[in-house]
Amino acid sequence: MTLIFPKESLAVFPKHLSPDYRSTVKRSPSKPLIIVPHTLSELTGPVYGHNAVQEGDADLTKQHKGEPLGERIIVHGHVLDEDKRPVPDTLVEIWQANACGRYVHNVDQHPAPLDPNFTGAGRTITDKKGYYRFITVKPGAYPWRNHPNAWRAAHIHFSLFGRAFTQRLVTQMYFPGDPLLPYDPMFTCIENEAARNRLVSAFDWESTIPEQALGYRFDIVLRGREETPMEKMP
Ligand SMILES: [Fe+2]
Repeated sequence: MTLIFPKESLAVFPKHLSPDYRSTVKRSPSKPLIIVPHTLSELTGPVYGHNAVQEGDADLTKQHKGEPLGERIIVHGHVLDEDKRPVPDTLVEIWQANACGRYVHNVDQHPAPLDPNFTGAGRTITDKKGYYRFITVKPGAYPWRNHPNAWRAAHIHFSLFGRAFTQRLVTQMYFPGDPLLPYDPMFTCIENEAARNRLVSAFDWESTIPEQALGYRFDIVLRGREETPMEKMP
């Protein structure tokens, strides 16, 4: 059984090899890719079931006894197809650094404090309108040693699952007005400026909750002319 997926727009995605983004030099393939056809089992499951996702999983500020430090934010939007139709029942997962720019991960040992009230991982499933919503804190910038004085622009990692494990898309959401954006090769390696800017969320006054949280909107378009750039692993 062979399924043909819509052809991707290569102009939208970052190149495997972007020398300014140093680790791509080692990990980008030097030979043409070998296409391995998907099998039926890969295309049909298993899938994360609705039961596995709990009600509170989308609120990253309520996963511990106390409140995490930092600027509380709402991050929300729609998952859409190429015709702006909603994509319901999509598992959306996020992970991020805390307000000081530190991940809860052994590899991250840079001298910024961990927050005992913040893990930085959440998930939810889009509703019938393709809508998702997270409550979290704004992540800080962090150094990443890609080049001298390299700092990642503040970002939240996103993963979206389709109907099978092989249908997973991964991307990053940025914040408007971040002065680090022009200096972050992981952002600038997407050469198409319009596509690159689709990774920048919009400040959303309408979803801002008084005395509680600022709102940011981030719509994710899965394909087509307005598609959201996704990370591609060679
Ligand atoms: Fe990150």
